[in-house]
Amino acid sequence: MKNKKIVIAGGTGFIGQALAARWGKDNQVVILTRQSATATGSRSATPITSRPEESINNSYSHRLLRAADGYNITYWHWDGRFVEKHWADELEGCDLVLNLAGRSVNCRYTARNKQAISDSRADATHAIGQAIKATVVPPKLWINGGSATIYRHAQDRPQDEYTGEMADDFSVRVCKRWEKTFDEQRTPFTRKIALRLAIILGHGGVVVPYLNLVKYGLGGRQGNGQQMYSWVHIDDVGRAIEWFLDHPELEGTYNLSAPGPVTNAVFMETLRKVTGNRLGLPAPAFLLKLGALLIGTETELLLKSRWVLPAKLLETGFRFEYDRVEPALNAIVGKLPRKRFHLF
Ligand SMILES: NC(=O)c1ccc[n+]([C@@H]2O[C@H](COP(=O)([O-])OP(=O)(O)OC[C@H]3O[C@@H](n4cnc5c(N)ncnc54)[C@H](OP(=O)(O)O)[C@@H]3O)[C@@H](O)[C@H]2O)c1
Repeated sequence: MKNKKIVIAGGTGFIGQALAARWGKDNQVVILTRQSATATGSRSATPITSRPEESINNSYSHRLLRAADGYNITYWHWDGRFVEKHWADELEGCDLVLNLAGRSVNCRYTARNKQAISDSRADATHAIGQAIKATVVPPKLWINGGSATIYRHAQDRPQDEYTGEMADDFSVRVCKRWEKTFDEQRTPFTRKIALRLAIILGHGGVVVPYLNLVKYGLGGRQGNGQQMYSWVHIDDVGRAIEWFLDHPELEGTYNLSAPGPVTNAVFMETLRKVTGNRLGLPAPAFLLKLGALLIGTETELLLKSRWVLPAKLLETGFRFEYDRVEPALNAIVGKLPRKRFHLF
């Protein structure tokens, strides 16, 4: 893909930086961030000095891609809630607005955290909708990065866009509100696509804690291992978004998950295989609950059975580069130094 202008809200995180690396040399990438100008080299008038809600999970230890590294990337400050002219102007006539903003779900689901998880996604979506409405030349495409966890815990059958069912737990309610807010934004001259992303495999995100588990001999199944694990390789996320850009007839809601989901037991076995770690102690559900409490997260991320299929995307003719988990994990692990997944 070349010569496009892409605005990524929440583009400092795992997915946003991976996509900025993919597109940032041949296209113009603009990232909206709440971080300070010092942290990002952004063109910000109002740097933020503290972000109390991020104190538990600071995911900003990675170095952000910069123009100095040869990327055509600009960071603009926003607060994820209100429209401000300096960043809203960047939306004028752009090819793609991609919204990835949202408070991390890797935390304890306290009342305060739950509110922040839900509000941050709805507020950012609303702000982008308002900004698009005010443009003179509206963006061509707006993609909102939601989650495939909108579907219920499924061990009986896969969930697709046609027959998938939703439960009424906290995560599902967050996803529903996120999609509803997106639907409510009336942007008649901007095509809209809501993505339901499966767990993304790449150099970051969940792969980091999984590699730590296998490294220390704890890479066995989690719970009874029969819960389904729907995943998608980060390269296929980039390829699918490019596919949507190239196909102006496509709009609506799409699952973005590889067509080859596996059980948790198979996923962990494959991870052990590709990293060459033979020993993998299983973690029963009660131990996971204790561990999650100790490290300040939730077991839902590990124990929910996510069985999702990309029915609509396959119908459009899109083909996944990684439709099986072993080549996907091999491609990721193969680019890492051995010390990342091996003690010796
Ligand atoms: N990674 C996955 O496997 C996966 C799977 C399904 C769905 N998703 C969803 O996809 C989106 C991006 O995922 P990711 O893995 O890239 O997440 P991430 O690494 O946590 O990045 C999310 C970005 O959102 C911004 N953010 C954090 N708190 C915010 C708040 N309160 N208000 C506005 N923005 C806030 C942050 O940017 P600044 O601090 O720079 O503003 C952060 O870089 C998230 O909504 C996530 O739930 C991810």
